[in-house]
Amino acid sequence: MKITKICCIGAGYVGGPTMAVIAQKCPHIQVTVVDLNEQRITDWNDPNTDNIPIYEPGLSEIVAEARGRNLFFSTEVEKAINEAQVIFISVNTPTKTYGKGKGMAADLKYIELCARQIAKVAKENKIVVEKSTLPVRTAEAIKSILDNTGNGVQFQILSNPEFLAEGTAVTDLLNPDRILIGGDTTPEGEEAISALVDVYANWVDKEKILTTNVWSSELSKLTANAFLAQRISSINAMSELCEKTGADVNEVARAIGMDSRIGPKFLKASVGFGGSCFQKDILNLVYIAKSYGLNEVADYWEQVIIMNDHQKKRFSSKIVQTLYNTVADKKITFLGWAFKKDTNDTRESAAIYVADDLINEQAKITVYDPKVSKIKILNDLNYLETRSAEENHATVSTFANAYDACKDAHAIAVLTEWDEFTTYDWQKIYDSMHKPAFLFDGRNILDAKKLEAIGFIYNGIGS
Ligand code: UDX
Ligand code: ADP
Repeated sequence: MKITKICCIGAGYVGGPTMAVIAQKCPHIQVTVVDLNEQRITDWNDPNTDNIPIYEPGLSEIVAEARGRNLFFSTEVEKAINEAQVIFISVNTPTKTYGKGKGMAADLKYIELCARQIAKVAKENKIVVEKSTLPVRTAEAIKSILDNTGNGVQFQILSNPEFLAEGTAVTDLLNPDRILIGGDTTPEGEEAISALVDVYANWVDKEKILTTNVWSSELSKLTANAFLAQRISSINAMSELCEKTGADVNEVARAIGMDSRIGPKFLKASVGFGGSCFQKDILNLVYIAKSYGLNEVADYWEQVIIMNDHQKKRFSSKIVQTLYNTVADKKITFLGWAFKKDTNDTRESAAIYVADDLINEQAKITVYDPKVSKIKILNDLNYLETRSAEENHATVSTFANAYDACKDAHAIAVLTEWDEFTTYDWQKIYDSMHKPAFLFDGRNILDAKKLEAIGFIYNGIGS
């Protein structure tokens, strides 16, 4: 089977960049990305590709090249489903906020809705690809909906998890470590797998395209994220010990990272990991383990989250303690709000929780982030429901540049590792601040010695 038309449901951080790269690399395939959110689609179609709704280095250029040629963004979900041979499901699967599994299990309502929509519309056999990270055995549920509510057509369900990291999505998509495709071991399943392999083979070496059964593929994605997050919690646990003992966590990370069995990546101590995946996927893993009665397995992975929450709390407590145990009415400037650099995504960003703690202590928060708007910052805080939207609005202010944001501040907290922060005239910032001037580097990106020589009271993570 040769694929010529692809539909992707969900024009978010996964669907948008992934489909843009498929379209760029496969000009012979028509790729249509659909979303229920009309504003999102309008933004993807903005004539100026710098205004597309997702900021990722290199993405706007790819969209400019492929959009209108073989890449389309549309709200006509049913039409796109009907025309395509392959349908990717890239809708969001947040942690449930209600009912059974609340706070742990993945909320599959958007996935189920997609499956029902596909079942309703499809008049010919289709390949349905799970792109969103999903609990193991979701493919089975999708298949059951498709087979029992559809028009009698045949569906093949593939699991093809996305491993891109935000901020580096384009390079990750262009040069993936591997592509994973899980499918049924029946002849029809194998035919579907092979059709999808052919799509990726347009730019990825065949040796890097791994095929497995569906369950292995689904579980591999959860496992990869759990292992990555575990490394961060492990180094963050050591950071607290370093602070007590006089060791420097950056030196420890470097020393252990040179052991080829450990490797140097994902050993940066920080204020805590954020993003839409790590916490959600681990909670999901914990929930699955518990549902099979595997309590030790569940407890083991839950500790990664417990450590991460502790790291965020520890950071805000340290600010309060260092500022003489009170931050009431003090101005604390956050540099960075996104969960990592080079993205405008703020989901689960440590900044949200640190700000929430400090506002509880009656601090005034000022934020500068190169890519995050005030509306998004306030939405993030309002979502926690700790206090009214009016109170958040009265407490948080934002500035269009760091120099203005830091003026008269009692303390600066670096929450995101944006490169530009390392290029600032820190003397100038120091001169404009309240004295003594404190700096809490939640990402260990600044030069502690230089800042201390200027006069800052510097606090990094793990030293
Ligand atoms: C992650 C996975 O890396 C990716 O493969 C998967 O598809 C989705 O989840 P993402 O969340 O976009 O990607 O970014 P990632 O680079 O993994 O960073 C996650 C969080 O961990 C960020 O808040 C980052 O700042 C933090 N982090 C990362 C650290 O604190 N220390 C590190 O050493 C690495
Ligand atoms: P991710 O990081 O997983 O890509 P996002 O929240 O950025 O998550 O994107 C998911 C997108 O999926 C959103 O834009 C949302 O509007 C869209 N979506 C959710 N359910 C449906 C659906 N049934 N049909 C079309 N789009 C949907």
